[in-house]
Amino acid sequence: MTKLEPESADAMTTSTPTTQLQSVPEARDLAALEARSISAWFGDHKVLDRVSLFMPAGSVTALIGPSGCGKSTFLRILNRMHELIPHASLAGEVLLSGSDIYDTRWKLTDARRAIGMVFQKPNPFPAMSIADNVTAGLKLTGTKASREERDDLIERCLTKAGLWNEVRDRLRQPGGALSGGQQQRLCIARSLAVRPRVLLMDEPCSALDPTSTRRIEQTIAELTREVTIVIVTHNMQQAARVSQQSAFFLAEQGSPGVIVEAGTTGTIFGSPSDSRTADYVNGRFG
Ligand SMILES: Nc1ncnc2c1ncn2[C@@H]1O[C@H](COP(=O)(O)OP(=O)(O)OP(=O)(O)O)[C@@H](O)[C@H]1O
Ligand SMILES: [Mg+2]
Repeated sequence: MTKLEPESADAMTTSTPTTQLQSVPEARDLAALEARSISAWFGDHKVLDRVSLFMPAGSVTALIGPSGCGKSTFLRILNRMHELIPHASLAGEVLLSGSDIYDTRWKLTDARRAIGMVFQKPNPFPAMSIADNVTAGLKLTGTKASREERDDLIERCLTKAGLWNEVRDRLRQPGGALSGGQQQRLCIARSLAVRPRVLLMDEPCSALDPTSTRRIEQTIAELTREVTIVIVTHNMQQAARVSQQSAFFLAEQGSPGVIVEAGTTGTIFGSPSDSRTADYVNGRFG
């Protein structure tokens, strides 16, 4: 296994692939994501040790486990954000529909467009209008669209994110004027606009009230028709409500994080095979 040293984002985005990137499929297809033997370091500190996980197409996989066990690090490796952190390195493979996004044929920008991320704290551009927030990612990816196409895209993405009815009459108002829960749905709409095949969500509801949380959970359920979702959550009820698969991460006594157990959410919560999983999902630690 080779340890990949991080390169600068620039070097990755400007490198010209020697062959046409034929293995990058159309954005609308449902795609499985598979992590194979992922290890991660910050400097000499190893924080993940040979983590493998299959995340099936068109479903929700929940990543659970105590604070500091490497869930966010794992998520960042799934869309090549980890390599942007100074002194961070990794080993292993991440396969999107069977194609390793760390292969030199993949440009960083293509990987991050195909595999989007929604963060814990909603991060819309506060002074930018709601409409422009939705299409902000298109500029970054150099996608050209007519006025009509843009309007259509804005409506479709806001509808999918469950926000259209609340903002249709004020699309020109700034994104920062929305409530926290609405801002998070706006961020989901912005992620969807570049037609990702996978959406990664790192504790997307932890800054939200219960009503907004429920609204986002509904949105997640509806989105599985077109994107594969991986969500980190500390809320066990949420994991049980929204996901079909769960993976329990743990870093014991200064050891790097590993997946103790992964399987259907019913099994992980109902009859896990490892006593540490049972203790965690039943609230006995963490
Ligand atoms: N930028 C960084 N530089 C150095 N170490 C880091 C960095 N980010 C995370 N770590 C370390 O990596 C380990 C895993 O952190 P990570 O944030 O992935 O955990 P987590 O499971 O997401 O925790 P939480 O549930 O609190 O969000 C921790 O030991 C953390 O201190
Ligand atoms: Mg985290």
